[in-house]
Amino acid sequence: MCGIVGYVGEKQALQVVVDGLRRLEYRGYDSAGVAVVSEGELDTRKKAGKLANLESLLGSDPLPQSTIGIGHTRWATHGGPTDLNAHPHVSEDGKVAVIHNGIIENFAELRAELMAAGVHLSSETDTEVVAHLLAATLPAVDGDLAEAMRTVCRRLSGAFTLVAVDADQPDVVVGARRNSPLVVGRGEGENFLASDVAAFIAHTRFAIELGQDQVVELRRESVTVTDFDGGPADVTEFEVTWDASAAEKGGYDTFMAKEIAEQPKAVSDTMLGRIGVDGQLKLDEMRLAENDLREIDKVVVVACGTAYHAGMVAKYALEHWVRIPCEVELASEFRYRDPVVGPGTLIIAISQSGETMDTIMALRYAREQGSKVLAICNTQGSTIPRESDAVLYTHAGPEVAVASTKAFLTQLVACYLVALYVAQVRGNKYGDEIAMIVRELQAMPQKVDLVLDTSEEMKELAEELKDARSVLFIGRHVGFPVALEGALKLKELAYMHAEGFAAGELKHGPIALLEDGLPVICIVPSPAGRSVLHEKIVSNIQEVRARGARTIVIAEEGDESVVPYADHLVRIPACPTLLQPLVATVPLQVFAAAMAAAKGHDVDQPRNLAKSVTVE
Ligand code: F6R
Repeated sequence: MCGIVGYVGEKQALQVVVDGLRRLEYRGYDSAGVAVVSEGELDTRKKAGKLANLESLLGSDPLPQSTIGIGHTRWATHGGPTDLNAHPHVSEDGKVAVIHNGIIENFAELRAELMAAGVHLSSETDTEVVAHLLAATLPAVDGDLAEAMRTVCRRLSGAFTLVAVDADQPDVVVGARRNSPLVVGRGEGENFLASDVAAFIAHTRFAIELGQDQVVELRRESVTVTDFDGGPADVTEFEVTWDASAAEKGGYDTFMAKEIAEQPKAVSDTMLGRIGVDGQLKLDEMRLAENDLREIDKVVVVACGTAYHAGMVAKYALEHWVRIPCEVELASEFRYRDPVVGPGTLIIAISQSGETMDTIMALRYAREQGSKVLAICNTQGSTIPRESDAVLYTHAGPEVAVASTKAFLTQLVACYLVALYVAQVRGNKYGDEIAMIVRELQAMPQKVDLVLDTSEEMKELAEELKDARSVLFIGRHVGFPVALEGALKLKELAYMHAEGFAAGELKHGPIALLEDGLPVICIVPSPAGRSVLHEKIVSNIQEVRARGARTIVIAEEGDESVVPYADHLVRIPACPTLLQPLVATVPLQVFAAAMAAAKGHDVDQPRNLAKSVTVE
């Protein structure tokens, strides 16, 4: 949600800012704008719609040359996605421009105060109040923009990243951060501010994480960070491990296609360095004391969307391998139900972006109850790992397509690693048992690679089914979260009704939905050891088919028992059921992307969605 870029240096700021905004497009937005300061004047351009609209405005009404500028892509919250509501917002004297990500909760009160003082507000946004408040504060603080920002921030409640420039201070960009992402990029004779490192990775890999309630003053040669009272602030510097090409399409039609193809490597990278030659787990990097792990009596996973589905798989792994109770909770529901958590509970917060507000609020609540929080996260320097007691990073690399694919697979791997590690530390499994499971896990990147071979057939299937009104997905055990994930991908990309069910639940209601030709995608667990689970789902497939529905069966190589009941059979490599989501999900991702393409939708940026959901 909302992309922010700020620049001060020697280059043409407009170019740097617009390039940065393009790299943040994936976050989701519906208008865009820029501001530059040149020869004591502030100039802005903004436009509803995609960046191309802003660029054509800049073509017909160019901005003056400048080496300092800010830019914004807006995902509308307060006020529709119009030219007027687009950021930057400017003070009445035309001198201060502000961009913002988040929600200022007390904006109505501040707006009323400004109006009573005779200020004319021209937009419906919460952001505009900040521009006017900064302008009103500047004279009282000798025109010091950073001090004005600190003064204003102390009056704001809610979540905000703010970035401002002032026509009277042509060498400084000021940013502030509470609850919304903001990272500094440190260059040579130039510095950057952005919602995430993707915006400046083409210029520098050196970054600084900003903490909660901090203000940063950015000049060409310096970066000064304070807290909201002007006191010194602790910051963490880090070096980004990937380069600009990782965030480009690299010859694929869409980012999603590229990210699906990258999954074998992402899965393998997430295991790298974490398994010893003896097949034992080495996760000291998590910074979670072994004693703490021995003492926990319950695990609660909190996450949203796709990450929540990874959490559901974690529950199966933890309960099976560690014999510890595990609950999985939608982060947005967690703190509102008075959950029973305390010092004996380990919370696992899973998040690709590390900035999902629902998950942040859930982990804060859990820490207040004395629980330890372990983050599984893909984004270095983001809020969730910073506010957690421990972190295990997934190594998916940048995920640009809004619909999560490779991040999901790496979240699964991280969950397996954590579950095995806890089993190892608590002695729930012998070393050789752990080593055996680890070997199976190490074989998975190659199996993920093999399952990509089903892509053409999934695309053909999508072409055939593109006019279906609805698609259902069924699975049991870990096939259930896979069914939910398959349905979520289809909803968000193809904008159609899709629903995942635990196959055993069909007879308790959803079976009434079945009708002639309705596509039902069935995830079949491994038949190894003639499991009851397998037999049960084969019966469920027969029940579905008996009611005229069209069965698309995803089953492992060599499983002949499903052949008579499958209208369409998709083969996946054999693997233990618990690890199967790593392969069973992949054809569903390809199917959803192909359905979206067949319907003419934007695969990488589905409507109404944002990559990083930074408001509750
Ligand atoms: C779906 C999707 C979302 C995210 C969810 C959580 O494809 O991407 O459901 O999984 O918004 O996001 P993170 O993992 O960034 O916390």
